Amino acid sequence: MSSKEKLVFGVIGCGRIAPKHTESIMAIPDAELAAVCDILPERADDFARKYNAQPYYDYHELLKRENIDIVTIATPSGDHAEIGIAAAQAGKHVMVEKPMAMTLRDADRLIQACRENGVKLAVIHQNRFNQSIKTLRNALVEGRFGKLTHGQATVRWNRGMDYYQQASWRGTKLQDGGVLMNQSIHNIDLLQWMFGPVDSVFGYTQTALRQIEMEDVAGAVLRFKNGAIGLIEAASTIYPKNIEETLNVFGESGSVIVGGIAVNRVEVWEFPESAEEQKQIFAAQENDPPNVYGFGHREIIEDMMKAIQTDGIPAVPGEEGRKALEIILAIYQCQETGQPVKLPLVPCQP
Ligand SMILES: NC(=O)c1ccc[n+]([C@@H]2O[C@H](COP(=O)([O-])OP(=O)(O)OC[C@H]3O[C@@H](n4cnc5c(N)ncnc54)[C@H](O)[C@@H]3O)[C@@H](O)[C@H]2O)c1
Repeated sequence: MSSKEKLVFGVIGCGRIAPKHTESIMAIPDAELAAVCDILPERADDFARKYNAQPYYDYHELLKRENIDIVTIATPSGDHAEIGIAAAQAGKHVMVEKPMAMTLRDADRLIQACRENGVKLAVIHQNRFNQSIKTLRNALVEGRFGKLTHGQATVRWNRGMDYYQQASWRGTKLQDGGVLMNQSIHNIDLLQWMFGPVDSVFGYTQTALRQIEMEDVAGAVLRFKNGAIGLIEAASTIYPKNIEETLNVFGESGSVIVGGIAVNRVEVWEFPESAEEQKQIFAAQENDPPNVYGFGHREIIEDMMKAIQTDGIPAVPGEEGRKALEIILAIYQCQETGQPVKLPLVPCQP
């Protein structure tokens, strides 16, 4: 880390999600955006103009800049590991978009590179910072659910062929995955964060409506190590628009449903004698965000900055981001073999 007062950022990849990175960085008082990079020069130049940063067209050049402390990576998912490893080797802290990699082997290489080079790694699962999810997590940590029985992560969104045709990497096996790996990974991360380690997985995927290589619909059942059952429903085929991203958590003395368009609104909050609390929670609800990316990018970036400044651990370090990836890869394995899969998965060779 530089000895300057501000932490200096470079953003790699200037596509759809990148404004969430650049605008969050610009809004944080002790953060500075120095550089942006895209292999498409016009995109890098546009961002550079808009955010008063230096444009780069090759991330290796950006990584040579000594004053950059942190890079955020928002390129196609299949490139996250290589870029993250190069950043770690250049001594930069790494914030990587989800999924952190497309294979466990690559995820492990990235985790290892950050460890060996003494830099921090955070995976961008910004929904962990939604107010509704923080409230739910606090109730869970306080033990208010009693014995957890079951939960469900539901994503009912619409991605038409116009979305998949925006870029050639979308919906592909090596660069993106399908609705589980791209859209549902946030909610799968939340489900496993609430219920803990997974014992075994069974699921089906299908490519029902879109002309893409990977799945647009999936259903899966998880058995958690604590005995609870988890259900996953994921679809990018919902007619005619995004309906919901919902997380359900049920236990012997608690029922919570967080829905809205992107797990942003508490819909059910039931604990013993919780009527007053319920009223307060419902009164303080945020509106639906303007898009499914929500509002969490700023907080997860601030969390990483704090981890760097205090030599702490970011909220979603690499080891944590790896967990949802492993569950999804296990579902893909079930689809191939027709058999339930016991975790941990053995990282396969490329
Ligand atoms: N956290 C979230 O909610 C969220 C939301 C959307 C996307 N994402 C993730 O962010 C990543 C990017 O998604 P997107 O929708 O912005 O994609 P996108 O295609 O709109 O943007 C990716 C950009 O990266 C550029 N690029 C490709 N290779 C590069 C390289 N080697 N160096 C520099 N730039 C390169 C492309 O030219 C493109 O401009 C994906 O991993 C996706 O899963 C996360």
